[in-house]
Amino acid sequence: MGPLVMVNGRSCALGEVGGHVTLLEWLRSSGFTGSKEGCAEGECGACAVLVARPDGDSSSRWTAINACLVPAAGFDQQEVITAEGLGTARDLHPVQREMADRGGSQCGYCTPGFICSMASEYYRTDRIPSAEANGRRSAETEPGTGGRAAVRAERNGSDPTAPGHAPDPEHGPNGFDLHALSGNLCRCTGYRPIRDAAYALDRPDGADPLLRRLERPAPAPAATTIGSSQGTFRRPGDLAQTLVLLADNPSARVVAGSTDWGVELNIRHSRAELTIGIDRLPELRQLHVGVDAIDIGAALTLSELERGLAGTVPLLAQLFPQFASRLIRNGATLGGNLGTGSPIGDSPPALLALDASLLLASRSGEREVKLSEYFTGYRQSVRRPDELITVIRVPLPVAPISAFHKIAKRRFDDISSVAVAFALRLDGGPAGEPAVGDIKIGLGGVAATPLRASATEQQLIGGPWTSEVVAAAARTLTGEATPISDHRASAAYRSAMLGAALRKFHAQHPAPAHQEA
Ligand SMILES: Cc1cc2nc3c(=O)[nH]c(=O)nc-3n(C[C@H](O)[C@H](O)[C@H](O)COP(=O)(O)OP(=O)(O)OC[C@H]3O[C@@H](n4cnc5c(N)ncnc54)[C@H](O)[C@@H]3O)c2cc1C
Ligand code: FES
Ligand code: FES
Repeated sequence: MGPLVMVNGRSCALGEVGGHVTLLEWLRSSGFTGSKEGCAEGECGACAVLVARPDGDSSSRWTAINACLVPAAGFDQQEVITAEGLGTARDLHPVQREMADRGGSQCGYCTPGFICSMASEYYRTDRIPSAEANGRRSAETEPGTGGRAAVRAERNGSDPTAPGHAPDPEHGPNGFDLHALSGNLCRCTGYRPIRDAAYALDRPDGADPLLRRLERPAPAPAATTIGSSQGTFRRPGDLAQTLVLLADNPSARVVAGSTDWGVELNIRHSRAELTIGIDRLPELRQLHVGVDAIDIGAALTLSELERGLAGTVPLLAQLFPQFASRLIRNGATLGGNLGTGSPIGDSPPALLALDASLLLASRSGEREVKLSEYFTGYRQSVRRPDELITVIRVPLPVAPISAFHKIAKRRFDDISSVAVAFALRLDGGPAGEPAVGDIKIGLGGVAATPLRASATEQQLIGGPWTSEVVAAAARTLTGEATPISDHRASAAYRSAMLGAALRKFHAQHPAPAHQEA
């Protein structure tokens, strides 16, 4: 029996899809034409489908992903639901019913994608109506939303925990998190009817088969080899097998969430002779919070990490909601973000400020590399072709004061023009006044690599945390970068944003007033 994927409860042969046929292409060519192609680069969500992903060891979660980015071969033995699998014209699913009744669809091109993103949120078992949550949910403790609540509170001063209301304007009274739709674009309906449909959803019926399905574990990843005329896809069974395969094939393309590689496949028509799927390797999917460090598995998705860390690292909690959309975060990994070596990835500035290290593994062993020594040039790093990033290690305790500033053209779902992360500890100075005990500043988008602002850090450490000192340091920070001008921002703007970010950080976290005087 060849590779099979379960679509809408029906077992379907994957065929010779190799590593280059995306799940969306395969679905459409197999007759599941409900899923649409809009952009083929993860921007519009028309292709969103649901996949059964693990939610702990014993249950599952219907997770919405961009089918246009992921290789179909990675779904051998997996379960996928498309919009057709949710309901029929005669028997609409509650999500489809609400969208129809509230005018959430006009041309309908985006609708199947919205339906799938909405259904994922509909079935989220920790979605709690605000009336129930009121008084017992706090922005800090609600998994996956603490960071966003903090960012929002910082931006608009709103109180996301105000009693008697939905927690904030981006959650419905039914607990629906509007950010579940952040990766879906609609060009003709307007978003209010879509939001109305989302906020009108009740809880799923207890007998709903898709709800009942969540009580069982997600399908285990299958070790797979699928060929094609344009290359082979392989999913090894464990890390040791992967490292042997990589050592023997150093030009192979390793793929985790495929949110970067999928764009290369579709837009640049890149092809790999051998694609190695590492997204489900158990060794790369552990999250361990120890006494001295947090070890983050390189193949955990950002959504899993957001839930797993639940605000333990405030800097990362601020980063996650600003990173792409929920659809992208449901696939994207930290290993992939660092694996690209991109100077505008969002995680490097934050991880640099956290003084993180990477564990790099190959057939010949493992080594630990400080992230500050990892990048060597534009999209280059010390990682050898036969090495995988297995773990991102964040030392504990994390600095008590931190911030992540992402300067981008759009508030959400946009690549950074500039990203700056701060991690600060204030100690007592010689006369007991607050002084900078330690500060680490990570920068992105302002040089050929992400970098630490070492000169600015040294200028600040040991000195008082005052506006005058910070203003002088902001001038140093502006000069530490070597930005370029491109379609996102000019070099002068990027430099100016660095100084502004430091002054803003100080304004938001001043030394206690009576001590600064
Ligand atoms: C619409 C859209 C929006 C985006 N928005 C953002 C954003 O806001 N911020 C941002 O930073 N990025 C953004 N990205 C880029 C992308 O989502 C991230 O870089 C993501 O973290 C990549 O992770 P992945 O697992 O999908 O990587 P993949 O696509 O699977 O891999 C990317 C690269 O890393 C390598 N790689 C993967 N895992 C490992 C590993 N463990 N060890 C070594 N190499 C590895 C692969 O070989 C490949 O070269 C966006 C992308 C899209 C399509
Ligand atoms: S087709 Fe636009 S996100 Fe997939
Ligand atoms: S209904 Fe036409 S794009 Fe959304």
